[in-house]
Amino acid sequence: MSSEVDDDISNDSDVIIKGSDSNSDNFKESKITPWEVQGEINYDKLIETFGTKPITPDILQKVQKLVGDVHPLLKLNYFFSHRDFDWILNKYERNENFYLYTGRGPSGMVHMGHILPWLFTKYLQDKFNSKLLFQLTDDEKFLYNQDRTFQEIKSFTYENILDIIAIGFDAKRTKIIVDTKHIQYLYPLANEIAKRITFSTSKSVFGFTHSTNIGMIGFPPIQSAPCFLPSLIEGKPTPVLIPAAIDQDPYWRMTRDVADRMGYYKPAQIHSKFLPALDTSGKMSSSKPQNALFTTDDPETIDRKVSAAFTGGQPTVALQRELGGNALECPVYWYLRYFFDSEVQSEERLIKCEGGNLLCGECKSDLATESKSFMIKFKQRREKAKDMIQEFMYDGKPL
Ligand code: TYM
Repeated sequence: MSSEVDDDISNDSDVIIKGSDSNSDNFKESKITPWEVQGEINYDKLIETFGTKPITPDILQKVQKLVGDVHPLLKLNYFFSHRDFDWILNKYERNENFYLYTGRGPSGMVHMGHILPWLFTKYLQDKFNSKLLFQLTDDEKFLYNQDRTFQEIKSFTYENILDIIAIGFDAKRTKIIVDTKHIQYLYPLANEIAKRITFSTSKSVFGFTHSTNIGMIGFPPIQSAPCFLPSLIEGKPTPVLIPAAIDQDPYWRMTRDVADRMGYYKPAQIHSKFLPALDTSGKMSSSKPQNALFTTDDPETIDRKVSAAFTGGQPTVALQRELGGNALECPVYWYLRYFFDSEVQSEERLIKCEGGNLLCGECKSDLATESKSFMIKFKQRREKAKDMIQEFMYDGKPL
């Protein structure tokens, strides 16, 4: 790359992160790419390694001042890191509106981990009155998953669109882009981006190797393109904010590096943590369906998965009463905290668990009950979404 390489990209050459293990002085490695998250994740270390900024009390105050309400996922530090979110807020304060942009790679059904950034995106849309582009990277998932046919990806794309609409985004201000269907709107921008990125840069940002198929190597500019599409739609440089988990950050580092040179604003990001798998073997993932709660799971399946979940509890009731549980390492506690409990309930649960006054069975029962009731309602919304698909599809017209 030329001297135009900015801090975002020169800082983060690697996908392997050496992070300090929180319980000891050992150093453990984690790997975070948009396609793979492995190892223990130290989120403070990630901020340092990726060169992002933490969400600070100043930012929370500013959000409160601007829209009168701070979403619990922001307050509880589930969204923990950002690039230029403060800049977006300043722009908004000066009456410059921003677009939201987020997405989904339709490799399977949608689980609770995917939904969290979307619920947060809906809050941002409602509060800041923002337009939203929602991309489905069917090409990415076809290229990445060696054993999936395009027909399978297409059917997940349809199913995932129902989930997206069921979140409740404003139909007038939200457009869905499916890469293989709407490529004509992305391709000119993707070419401009691709021309400015070397293989050497994308190799270090994404961890591509000699055995990566060339479709994957060429894909990243397609995910970058919607960062600049709002500027074309609005006919002027338009700020864009991307809410997503931090696994997607490599795309934005690459995009930010070319933005100035293309005459656009760098896209801003707000990054979330990962909702863990029910067995804590990593992030909740569609590729490990037994350890994830899907929006389409039936009540029996939810009961079975939740009852088999790992917890932060002690091996026996007596020890749990004596020593208390480790709520902060417990996926059941995480789901309840970020999805279902109010802040007060969550704090009470933490105190009771750590003090040995709560057994894992009680938390599991709460999670199963809440999840079943959520999924029943969500399934009804998915049904209604079937008649709304056309309304949400991008058609090249202004939003
Ligand atoms: P995908 O389908 O892997 O994930 C969709 C969204 O869910 C987030 N995510 C999670 N969040 C919390 N806990 C988890 N266990 C978890 N697993 C996934 C992801 O960060 C993402 O926000 N390439 C993308 C699709 C895409 C996109 C975008 C995503 C296209 N444009 C713009 C975000 C923003 C993908 O495969 O996401």
